Amino acid sequence: MLKGKKILVGVTGSIAAYKSAMLIRRFIERGAEVKVIATALAKQFITPLTLATLSKNPVLVEFFDPENGQWNSHVSLGMWADAYVIAPATANTIAKMASGVADNLLLTAYLSARCPVFVAPAMDLDMYAHPATGRNIKRLREDGVHIIEPESGELASGLSGKGRMEEPDVIAEHVSDYFASPYVGDDLWGKKVLVTAGGTVEPIDAVRYITNRSSGKMGYALAGEFRRRGATVTVIRGAVDPRLTGSLEGITEISALSAEEMGRAVMTAAVDHDIIVMAAAVADYTPAEVSPGKLKKKDDDMSLHLKKTRDIAADLGKIKKPTQILVGFALETDNEETNALGKMERKNLDMIVLNSLRDKGAGFACDTNKITIYRRDGEVRRFDLKSKSLVAADIVDETVSLLVEAERRSR
Ligand code: CTP
Repeated sequence: MLKGKKILVGVTGSIAAYKSAMLIRRFIERGAEVKVIATALAKQFITPLTLATLSKNPVLVEFFDPENGQWNSHVSLGMWADAYVIAPATANTIAKMASGVADNLLLTAYLSARCPVFVAPAMDLDMYAHPATGRNIKRLREDGVHIIEPESGELASGLSGKGRMEEPDVIAEHVSDYFASPYVGDDLWGKKVLVTAGGTVEPIDAVRYITNRSSGKMGYALAGEFRRRGATVTVIRGAVDPRLTGSLEGITEISALSAEEMGRAVMTAAVDHDIIVMAAAVADYTPAEVSPGKLKKKDDDMSLHLKKTRDIAADLGKIKKPTQILVGFALETDNEETNALGKMERKNLDMIVLNSLRDKGAGFACDTNKITIYRRDGEVRRFDLKSKSLVAADIVDETVSLLVEAERRSR
């Protein structure tokens, strides 16, 4: 899918720079033409000879060649590239990109690039978790940069956590998928999409509540993907990872913490939306009574009386128009297929996305997911384990094809 594509690879000074060699190979194997820009520090981690040999082009580091004075024009590099992939991207480079610093060729090319830019961060877990890095990554996202999130695992420091650069295969797949998608650009222009995300929060008293482990990552990945394809997107969120809140540019976010609030918000907003994706983990039960003060400890055990919540997806299923596409999720631990198909039927969904907690790397809080999509028309599509942003692209592809069919039928 990268045949004939021109890819500019930016390499910065990180231990993960050795993976850039593999990444360049993956791009070349997929038919791309590759040029490499490295920072001065990157050369300490991987030799220009390796990068030049693999990319079949000289590696560019300085603004001009000190030997012969030849000018390495960042403007023409930025114009040449169909994609600019900065991998690994250190915390330092990310910070400079976020604030527009242009003190090396890699950064000036970023500011000049008119193509999509992909950034694969690589750093120690504490650097990645630092609020300053979080702010910078958020700003890059707002600027339209595609962030390929790092994995969790063993780091060069010997510590273990999130910060290890994503594997070259996954980065190459991410970039290919971007170009492979028939909907890149504004195919969903004029369409309105509603996505629910996160877990609901059901109050018990003034200080306590019941919730679940949903992080909202899948919902936000979907919202970002729909937006990227031109749709007008609203996210109705329960409790989500705080780093997600406000992380997507051009998206309306509505906070609706309890199942009841979420139900009201969704039913109000749904009327004029073309696609509704119920990615939130909505509580099935909520305390029958909410104590206005703090419940006091007693000598005996206590029991909490729970009442059923409204099934929002099912209520939408009853009123949806023939051209509206309703997508649900099913997170199962056993009898996965039967349960998912049952939910699709009961809730009158057009499609259900199943993930099983038995699959490693699938489900809550992970950055990856492994899904099977069941469509109302009987089609089934099984996917491999992928990052949530790639999973989002698969779900959006499928949703859009259902929308196109529904619109054709109603004509
Ligand atoms: N859902 C909903 N309202 C609820 C519960 C679930 O809209 N009160 C939606 C979810 O957002 C999801 C789908 O229905 O898209 C399936 O959710 P799930 O919790 O798996 O299904 P339940 O019907 O609650 O079944 P169970 O808890 O028994 O698995």
